[in-house]
Amino acid sequence: MLKVLDHPLITHKLAYMRDEKTGTKDFSQHLDEIASLMAYEVSRDLPVKEVCIKTPIGLCDTYELAKEVVLVPILRAGLGMVNGIRNIIPTAKVGFVGLYRDEETLMPHEYYAKFPEGLQDSVVMVLDPMLATGGSASAAITMLKKRGARSIKLVCLVGVPEGVSLIEKDHPDVDIYLAALDEKLNEIGYIVPGLGDAGDRIFGTK
Ligand code: PRP
Ligand code: URA
Repeated sequence: MLKVLDHPLITHKLAYMRDEKTGTKDFSQHLDEIASLMAYEVSRDLPVKEVCIKTPIGLCDTYELAKEVVLVPILRAGLGMVNGIRNIIPTAKVGFVGLYRDEETLMPHEYYAKFPEGLQDSVVMVLDPMLATGGSASAAITMLKKRGARSIKLVCLVGVPEGVSLIEKDHPDVDIYLAALDEKLNEIGYIVPGLGDAGDRIFGTK
């Protein structure tokens, strides 16, 4: 399932991020805010369990989250989405996948992996602002499945049809959430119109 969260606030903030004049501090702050807004929709179908709470007035039959949530940012750029989601889901645990895209071949290369225990019983949210060829996200999801993860959502800011198609082919069980579906990739694998290199814009490395 692909869900594009074209909410006016998300689109407004994303427009600000896309602007080439937006600097590192504002870029990161807006990414943080969009991640929080997306978390609301991405968490809509989280499983819940019945609980009985004693309020100051009486007993209340209600619900609480039934599963742990694990956030897995794809380094580096995915790191920029962690705090925004943790503001909404403060109990979420965090794992890490380190991948970089070879600039020539566009193939992802793994350099780091660290996950909390209990992936098999958790809802795992893979975070990366950019879904371009889809190679990085697909590799990260494969790594998580090998370690037992069964319920996985992919949360990105900007995607293109090429990336969405790859995830749908490689991982048809994974729900994809985007803030925007852009037009295409250019000849060097960047999203058009996109927002440029997300990692460089977050961390000021170019
Ligand atoms: C970017 C981005 C994704 C990947 C998307 O990371 O953050 O991880 O490219 O491209 P794909 O869908 O074609 O795989 P990059 O490899 O530039 O690393 P960085 O985050 O460290 O800058
Ligand atoms: N990675 C980025 O950071 N930006 C793109 O447009 C594509 C891949």
